[in-house]
This record gives sequence, C-alpha cells and structure tokens, in this order.
Amino acid sequence: MNSVNELVVAPNSTVREVVAEDFRTAAIFQKYGLDFCCGGGATIERSCQKKGVNADLLIAELRGVMEGRSAEEPRFNQWSVDLLINYILQNHHSYIRSVLPTILGHAEKVARVHGGANPSLVEVAEKFRGIAEDMTSHIAKEERILFPYIQYLSQVDSAEKEIQAPSFGSVQNPIQMMEVEHQLAGDEMEEMRRLTNNYTPPAEACTTYRVLFQELQEFEQDLHRHIHLENNILFPKAIQLEQSIQREDEVTRSESVV
Ligand SMILES: [Fe+2]
Ligand SMILES: [Fe+2]
Repeated sequence: MNSVNELVVAPNSTVREVVAEDFRTAAIFQKYGLDFCCGGGATIERSCQKKGVNADLLIAELRGVMEGRSAEEPRFNQWSVDLLINYILQNHHSYIRSVLPTILGHAEKVARVHGGANPSLVEVAEKFRGIAEDMTSHIAKEERILFPYIQYLSQVDSAEKEIQAPSFGSVQNPIQMMEVEHQLAGDEMEEMRRLTNNYTPPAEACTTYRVLFQELQEFEQDLHRHIHLENNILFPKAIQLEQSIQREDEVTRSESVV
C-alpha cells in the first residue's frame, strides 16, 4: 500500500513522524492520552509503555486510518518552509487573533454571572486571560524573529548565497524557546480541560456558558494542530535547511582556500 515516501508505522516510529505523515492520526493519539505535539519525539513503544497503552492495538488503528487516506488531504511534510509559514500565519495565527477577544469576553461574562455558584469558572477566566497574553506575545515573536529568519534561509538556499549569521547564533535557539512556550501553552490548556470537566457544561448551563466551553475546546484543538505543524514539521525542516546551507558554505570556503 505504501509508495516510497509513505511511512509504515512500527513500534520504533516516533509519534512525531506518524502525525507528520498523516494528521488524522493525531485524533487516535489523543484518544489514548498520548502527547503528539510537544512530546512527539518519543517512539510509539515508549509512549505506550509510559501510559500503559497496548502498542499493537494502537499501531493497528493508526495503520487503518493511514490506509484510508484520500489524495486531497494536505501532505504538510512535503511542503516547503515558505508554504508552511504562510499556512500557519493564515490559518492559525489569524485564528488566534480573531477568537481571543470573543472567548475572553465570554469567559469573563460566565465568571461574573456563574462564578459565585461555581468558582472554577473564575479560574477558567483568569487562566484564559494568561493564555491569551502568552499566545499574543508568542505569535508576535514567531512573526518578527523566527519566521523571517526561516524565510531568509529558504532564499539563501535557492540563491546559493552565503549565510549571514543572525544575532541569535543558530535557528535552533529561537526554536528551542518556542518549543518551551508550546509546552507551557499545552500544559495550560490541559489544566483548562480539567477545570471544565473535559469541556462538559452542566445540564442547567446557559447558552453563553455552553458556547464558551465549545470555543475553549476548539481553541485547544487548533492549538494542538498549530503546535504540531511547527514542532514536528516546520522546525525540523528549518534546522535541516540551516545545516545544509552551512555545510555548503564550508565546502565553498575549503575549495577557495585550496
Ligand atoms: Fe505559531
Ligand atoms: Fe508557536
């Protein structure tokens, strides 16, 4: 069933490479409580051992989903860094900017009206305010520093120019910083899931209360997908790009010395 570029899932495949190959597998990892976006570097075997999940069953399920893949689904792993960056900006950064004020408004309203009877709603509003501030600053850092540098790497690569070292040394430094922030955001949303009882409103909840929980759940899903595209696809490609340009530069320099 597999062409040369497709992955056959095995116990030693990393969660990251499986999700990078086919994002629909993320829902399966999520169902078993396995971290696919921040802790994606672990092998399937290791992640299953950690969570007490049967690896054979999981692999069978993953293969089932991957076999039923349609040709229209985007193969992000095969996209260029420029295309990935544009996609992330247009789909995820713009989504964050557009929904933050609405969700925050709903969280504050629900906390004000129902927080007396249910104090966890006050915590939900406070936590979301923190997440909103962190995410706003996070995406601004990516847009001002990291993404332009990755786009620069791509231009240097196609023009076969020599690389001008950035003030932060290597692309790996801002990437590491962004990955730490991804982990923190993921942890915060996990806490949000706990506070909201898996985004399940009580039977008597009013419409705004229900809408808020739905918005929070969508926000978390979008965040997972966004982090996955950066941690598992864009960042490894950027590191590889920088290393290959540096290797080329070294070869050119050594040839010019001879
Ligand atoms: Fe981002
Ligand atoms: Fe990010």
